[in-house]
Amino acid sequence: MTEVKNSEGKKVPNVILKTRVRDESVGGDNPYRWQDVESTDLFKGKKIVFFALPGAFTPTCSSAHLPGYEASYDEFKKLGIDEVYCLSVNDAFVMFQWGKHQKAEKVKLIPDGSGDFTCAMGMLVKKDNLGFGGRSWRYSMYVEDGVIKKIFVEPGFTDNCPTDPFEVSDANTMLAYLKTL
Ligand code: BEZ
Repeated sequence: MTEVKNSEGKKVPNVILKTRVRDESVGGDNPYRWQDVESTDLFKGKKIVFFALPGAFTPTCSSAHLPGYEASYDEFKKLGIDEVYCLSVNDAFVMFQWGKHQKAEKVKLIPDGSGDFTCAMGMLVKKDNLGFGGRSWRYSMYVEDGVIKKIFVEPGFTDNCPTDPFEVSDANTMLAYLKTL
């Protein structure tokens, strides 16, 4: 665990994210191939709402965190947001299946399987108490052209946290913030 940093005014880190993209030229029943994506490319020239959570298929992430942003997506768009991203320290296969399971058609799920983005953000925590290994602390941020303008970090940042704070990284808090701009 690193200290939680105040990243406002800083650029999002540049790491390689290992994604899977559909490519009909691959053929067969499962026409997907690997594609490396530079994280900074996801933010270039765009207004982005971003949130990170500790795990695909986990209860609060699945019942509240992701669904809240999916339900608010159209409101974010009306406020001029280009994309809403959800990142988790899970691999591309898990994130894809979680998105399907959640019927998340608007929010884009970003796999940070090795935790490189999360580590560079200073948001990697141990969750060995749950057998999870390294995961993301819950946070959200508003990013303009790769620069972090606002970040909401859940309180109590710590390894092996016995609780799962979810108070400030929700969609409503982000919407309220964006409406003040
Ligand atoms: C949850 O979303 O409820 C959760 C996340 C990480 C660990 C345990 C539960």
